[in-house]
Amino acid sequence: MTGNPNRRILLGLTGGIAAYKAAELARLFVKSGADLRVVMTEAACRFVTPATMQALSGKPVYTDLWDARVSDGMGHIELSRDRELILVAPASADFIAKLAAGLADDLLSTLCLARRCPLAVAPAMNVEMWSCPPTQRNVQRVREDGVWVLGPGSGEQACGETGWGRMLEPRELFDAASAMLGPALLAGRRVLVTAGPTFEPLDTVRGITNLSSGKMGYAVAQAAAEAGAEVTLVSGRTSLPAPAGTSRVDVLTAAQMHREVMARVGATDVFIAVAAVADYHVVGAKSHKIKRGSGNLTIELAPNPDILAEVAALAKPPFCVGFAAETENLREYATQKRRRKGIPLLAANLAQETFGRDDNALTLFDDSGEHRLERAPKIVLARRLIEHVAGMLAGR
Ligand code: C5P
Repeated sequence: MTGNPNRRILLGLTGGIAAYKAAELARLFVKSGADLRVVMTEAACRFVTPATMQALSGKPVYTDLWDARVSDGMGHIELSRDRELILVAPASADFIAKLAAGLADDLLSTLCLARRCPLAVAPAMNVEMWSCPPTQRNVQRVREDGVWVLGPGSGEQACGETGWGRMLEPRELFDAASAMLGPALLAGRRVLVTAGPTFEPLDTVRGITNLSSGKMGYAVAQAAAEAGAEVTLVSGRTSLPAPAGTSRVDVLTAAQMHREVMARVGATDVFIAVAAVADYHVVGAKSHKIKRGSGNLTIELAPNPDILAEVAALAKPPFCVGFAAETENLREYATQKRRRKGIPLLAANLAQETFGRDDNALTLFDDSGEHRLERAPKIVLARRLIEHVAGMLAGR
């Protein structure tokens, strides 16, 4: 495996059962050619031994702020200064709390505070520890400080409970770190992404929406941020956290999404419309709850603006990318849609194969034809899409 030749990565381990997965992660980094340095907290050493990590990384492992091997007692500066990325995996609730507060009472937290390179953390903890307000506050704080929060995932946990808090798999963390270290394909570009469903109110408590989870749009926003772009995500209602390195604007209706996009599009180089925007809104939505009656209830719908088509028709449009979710005749509908909206690139998928799922398959349509991206996790597809966009921008 190649991919990170000589890239200087510091892998930090904190105390948690997921630490055993960090051994596999270290192996992936080393096989990819990375120059890996491992630092472990005292608690991490109770789950895996420094000897294991030393054998896998082929380098001395550091655990102690006062380690005599580091000259002049300046280890907290030296060990992270030549690094291009620090990845803490697993990152315990306690460690994230320390990062949020700026505490530096052991080697790893001190290195994080004294770093000059990007920092990514992969939270790993029990579902209740993850969802409790202090942890959520701390995660929000570190995100605001520019730390990349990778995951966590949801599923069965070592403690026997089920829910959010599982550390992402080593392969997912390896791919995310590699993307961060890769060439900054969109450096200096401003990217605007729409994501998620819209919600069109019927009255104060009801409305018309769709089953879009927002996962594809959020993955596209993350991939663009990993590629060095300045990313704004205009998002309908989802339960997803804003991806690291993006700024999110929350909206409910298509009209609000339209307004927020048009307000920003002048300062945008690339517009990627992934949102599942409602085609219609309810005329005369009631400002009180509609009461049950005995007869039929008729609802009048009026068309919403087509945000993507409107942006593409601007005198100086950004590079526009559309998404199409169809249930059949993918090629025919996608080709027509690309032409009708006047956009250079359209990513098409089958609605029944993407809505709510973590993976997808995409076909890209552009002037040079059709490009198939085989089924893969949405973040993997999003990275390929961003590579394709960067290639098209470079060729313009
Ligand atoms: O026409 P259709 O809804 O199938 O087109 C899908 C593409 O257009 C997506 O990129 C979607 O985000 C965008 N779109 C939009 N505004 C709308 C409808 C769709 O930006 N009102």
